[in-house]
Amino acid sequence: MTGSTSGLGLVTAAELAIHGAEVTLAVRDTARGEHVATAIRARSAGAKVDVQRLDVADLGAVREFAAGWLGAHSRLDLLINNAGVMAIPRALTADGFEMQFGTNHLGHFALTGLLLPAITATPGARVVSVSSGAHRIGRMRFDDLMGAQKYSAWGAYGQSKLANLLFMSELERRFERAGIAAFSVAAHPGYASTNLQSTSATLNGGGFRHKFYGLGDRVMAQTAEMGALPTLYAATNASVAGGSYIGPSGIGEMRGHPKEVGMSSAARNRDNATQLWLASEELTGVRYLD
Ligand SMILES: NC(=O)c1ccc[n+]([C@@H]2O[C@H](COP(=O)([O-])OP(=O)(O)OC[C@H]3O[C@@H](n4cnc5c(N)ncnc54)[C@H](OP(=O)(O)O)[C@@H]3O)[C@@H](O)[C@H]2O)c1
Repeated sequence: MTGSTSGLGLVTAAELAIHGAEVTLAVRDTARGEHVATAIRARSAGAKVDVQRLDVADLGAVREFAAGWLGAHSRLDLLINNAGVMAIPRALTADGFEMQFGTNHLGHFALTGLLLPAITATPGARVVSVSSGAHRIGRMRFDDLMGAQKYSAWGAYGQSKLANLLFMSELERRFERAGIAAFSVAAHPGYASTNLQSTSATLNGGGFRHKFYGLGDRVMAQTAEMGALPTLYAATNASVAGGSYIGPSGIGEMRGHPKEVGMSSAARNRDNATQLWLASEELTGVRYLD
């Protein structure tokens, strides 16, 4: 599980561990990860939680994590690609990718490919991509994926979350084509009060943005516990089929209990999905399921 130090990832990892899953908290700050692991063990003495360093915005770290993890495990029932940043000013990852596209999509694309041996060795394995309702504002700008010519913080976030859904669908098609008994699904939490909004406000200069998000959190947001339900449903519900997208059932998919939800037409575009896959292979150097 990536991004399990706070918000939805923390809740999801804790619920899985408390209900008997053996969970790796894949985090960029291992001290915070250990703190989370200790809190989970305090809630459930038998919980099997392990903390490993993973910065998804650094392909070297992704490779190092995957090699270490594969050295210690031969099967992977569930990979939850959840870590993310939202609507931040333009910045670059260790590999020179625009930070939101690099973190939210490319790092997870590489991670999934590098962990494939354990996924293919586990019949019924699931890969869950955590997207967002904001995928609907996204557009794939294949001529400027990194926003080098024109950048908007929300535009880049929307593109990265659209990429999560295109990746999810293409991964599912490639599992099917290769006859691999794994499946790929996606989820989104609606609007949940987590660190996502405050991190965005801080990186954009703070001020009124904290007040704006604070008001939104109080008036509209659901709790992180509720926001994690679609991910948990996508990860564990036996009736969820490959290619499904799970989100909240309330008005505007902002809150409520999980159900299968629709995607934008851009997210269902197969040509875009193929083009994104090829671009992601080229950019990360991780090639799989050709
Ligand atoms: N909250 C919402 O309303 C909402 C709505 C739609 C979609 N989502 C999606 O839900 C997912 C989880 O977000 P959240 O709301 O739980 O936010 P959050 O509380 O800010 O959690 C984000 C997590 O991602 C981790 N992360 C960020 N960059 C990373 C990197 N380079 N390497 C490894 N970990 C990294 C963070 O680690 P640190 O603690 O080290 O920063 C943190 O654990 C995201 O993909 C987000 O796009 C959230």
